[in-house]
Amino acid sequence: MPVPDDPSTAGSPTRTPAIAAVVVLAAGAGTRMRSELPKVLHPIAGRPLLWHALTAAGALGPRELVAVVGHGREQVAAYLDAHHPEVRQAVQDRQLGTGHAVAAALGDTVPDGVVLVTYGDVPLLTPETLRLLVDAHAEQHNAVTVLTARVPDPSGYGRIVRDAGGGVRAIVEHRDADESQRAIDEINSGVYAFDGAVLAGALPRLTAGNAAGERYLTDVVSVAVDDGRRVGAVIAPDPTETEGVNDRVQLAALARRLNDRLVRQAQLAGVTVLDPATTWLHADVRLEPDTTLLPGTSLEAGTTVATGATVGPDSTLSACRVGEGATVTRSHCIEAEIGPGATVGPWTYLRPGSVLGADSKVGAFVEVKKSTVGAGAKVPHLSYVGDAEIGPGSNIGAGVITANYDGVAKHRTVVGSEAFVGTDSTLVAPVTIGDGAYVAAGSTVTDDVAAGDLGIARGRQAGIPGWVLRKRAGTAADRAARRAGATDDPPGEHRDTADRPDSAEGACS
Ligand code: UD1
Ligand code: CA
Repeated sequence: MPVPDDPSTAGSPTRTPAIAAVVVLAAGAGTRMRSELPKVLHPIAGRPLLWHALTAAGALGPRELVAVVGHGREQVAAYLDAHHPEVRQAVQDRQLGTGHAVAAALGDTVPDGVVLVTYGDVPLLTPETLRLLVDAHAEQHNAVTVLTARVPDPSGYGRIVRDAGGGVRAIVEHRDADESQRAIDEINSGVYAFDGAVLAGALPRLTAGNAAGERYLTDVVSVAVDDGRRVGAVIAPDPTETEGVNDRVQLAALARRLNDRLVRQAQLAGVTVLDPATTWLHADVRLEPDTTLLPGTSLEAGTTVATGATVGPDSTLSACRVGEGATVTRSHCIEAEIGPGATVGPWTYLRPGSVLGADSKVGAFVEVKKSTVGAGAKVPHLSYVGDAEIGPGSNIGAGVITANYDGVAKHRTVVGSEAFVGTDSTLVAPVTIGDGAYVAAGSTVTDDVAAGDLGIARGRQAGIPGWVLRKRAGTAADRAARRAGATDDPPGEHRDTADRPDSAEGACS
């Protein structure tokens, strides 16, 4: 059978050419962060700076992705081993400049084809902008194409020096630049596309004869121009994409920018965000259309929110799954699963392993840990539920506590379906409350309660008639009691109320 043409490729514009390698520079000291943690491991949007750089580079599908590590190498290598096994690590022992770093990455075997260089501390760069660079590089048949930016304050950056025809002639570092060069407002972002063969030829020719005494990668430009090769530039459509992190002020500023981008993407994908300024989204949060985020909401890595759900205000969810139409109000939830239609909060703490069934309710000042709350079950107020399984339709009264810890080991509590646990009861685990069983309010339950039974485990109530009238004579209580018709009965006749037929109930609702 003939295979029909794939409509998605038919007549498509020129494709971004294959990338031989991307080299991500991440060996620098990052001194201004004043941190034990290497700069590239500082997170924004829930992921290290290096993750953002590698993810953008990886999106172009290079044959090889290389990270140059040096300063804080053990920590960076451990991170790469754990999270980016596809990345080859090249070691630059001493940071002798960006040119030296690229030489350390590629050694004597610079691949043919396009080689990209980016920085591990530039987290906002998008694959789209990298593709613009690579496409221009191919279309203009350049030996080198530099990603540049026009900025209001170019000080500190390398300046793009162009010839009369507008071609790039050289990149001059701020420290090495003269007055007229320092007036140039087009800066080098540090991101480049190179022809591999040209790069291979130029790297050994870089010298350290400059103000910093370093081997500048930027000098590949003048080497190529001197050899009569074409050097081009692409001006970044959004200069903030090329900004790097040097200190924690910039870390916060770029985190804010990235968050603005993530919130905007969510809004355009159908998420109502009432207050973008106080809504924080990690990079890999998944939000379905027609979800609503109220002010003060943070959704952290691994969180998914299904259609119709509302989260917030003032809630933090980390690695949680929120089902369709669920609501989470003023709560803190970690590695929890919140079923469709469930309601959580206000002021609920869901700890790892909390699984809430469809249409269940976990209410105010309730903490749940490693527990299942069945479909339609309710834990509405002031409870601790740990290492427990609560069956569908069961009602856990206000203040019920699972005593799951005996000081040495944790034990499980099982509550069957459609069971009723009266307020202020303590379920001393291991213990099982059967299907349809009741527990009387105020019980300390140490033995199982069988299906359909009532478990009652509390002291009996005794009444002492006229006690106030005798022992608190003359007080406001005495007067109130007398107005209500109380009389001073002879002592000794205790009124027993424990068998009142409704005394076993008393859960709040
Ligand atoms: C560099 C550019 C400059 C550009 C600026 C953009 C050079 C000579 N200059 O300057 O034109 O405007 O970036 O931010 O390239 N690194 C290593 N090993 C080293 C040196 C640096 O891995 O030996 C890494 C750093 O970790 C960093 C990146 O390379 O991620 C840039 O290094 P940095 O020292 O910040 O370069 P700048 O002087 O800012
Ligand atoms: Ca820098």
